Amino acid sequence: MSRSIAILGGTGPEGLGLARRWAKAGETIIIGSRDPARADDAARKLKEIVGDSAPLSGMDNPAAAAAAEIIVLTVPFSGHAALLKQIKPAIRPEAMVIDTTVPLAASVGGRATRTLGIWEGSVAQQTAELVPKGVSVAAAFHNASAELLNSDEPVECDVLVCSDQPVATAIALDLAAKIPGVRGIDAGKLENARTVEQITALLIALNIKHKGHSGIRITGLPASAYRG
Ligand SMILES: NC(=O)c1ccc[n+]([C@@H]2O[C@H](COP(=O)([O-])OP(=O)(O)OC[C@H]3O[C@@H](n4cnc5c(N)ncnc54)[C@H](OP(=O)(O)O)[C@@H]3O)[C@@H](O)[C@H]2O)c1
Repeated sequence: MSRSIAILGGTGPEGLGLARRWAKAGETIIIGSRDPARADDAARKLKEIVGDSAPLSGMDNPAAAAAAEIIVLTVPFSGHAALLKQIKPAIRPEAMVIDTTVPLAASVGGRATRTLGIWEGSVAQQTAELVPKGVSVAAAFHNASAELLNSDEPVECDVLVCSDQPVATAIALDLAAKIPGVRGIDAGKLENARTVEQITALLIALNIKHKGHSGIRITGLPASAYRG
């Protein structure tokens, strides 16, 4: 299937890491930024890593959202709602949104090991309320370390995908499986994103304590539960 993936906030480490892995897997990637020049620059640098012929480009966030079937949010929580309001008119009716955003207190000046309370339950549920009606939302990739995504090594992490729309779950699982080392797991309803988002704060605490780049592995499920 030919599709474009816009990664908004894609100039940061998480978005760049996902862009790098998916571009390597042959996906068409648009890096989104508040500044189109910064997006262009990031796309050019990624081409140096992935290959000059890789379908990678850069645009400002609304243009990137308008050009894509899949929109991936990789911005700090502090900018999340305003970004969604900005791009809402640009989102295609048939598009889907994958949200990686973690509500870290650090995004508003607090600690990176703490999370903020979200009225809707999770950032992903907030997203579902802010996108145009009919646009599907999946929560995924919260626990995948940017450090590992930006390396050439397999990423030792399972990606828990939460969504209320099976088609969105399927697409996010497919994208997870494109990252060597990652296994995608259908983690049920979008409301489960609340727990998945919290795990990242714990992983950050582990990284600080043990000086590493931790991820998660889920054991004990039948083989059919794992994609990748
Ligand atoms: N880093 C990780 O290992 C990791 C792992 C899992 C999940 N996450 C989550 O993924 C998201 C991105 O993480 P990150 O470390 O890449 O974050 P980041 O570097 O702080 O931000 C990513 C990009 O977001 C844009 N941005 C910054 N402030 C913004 C605002 N107020 N409004 C709109 N855009 C803004 C910036 O791009 P421009 O200036 O070019 O617009 C920036 O390069 C976060 O929610 C984080 O919790 C991160």
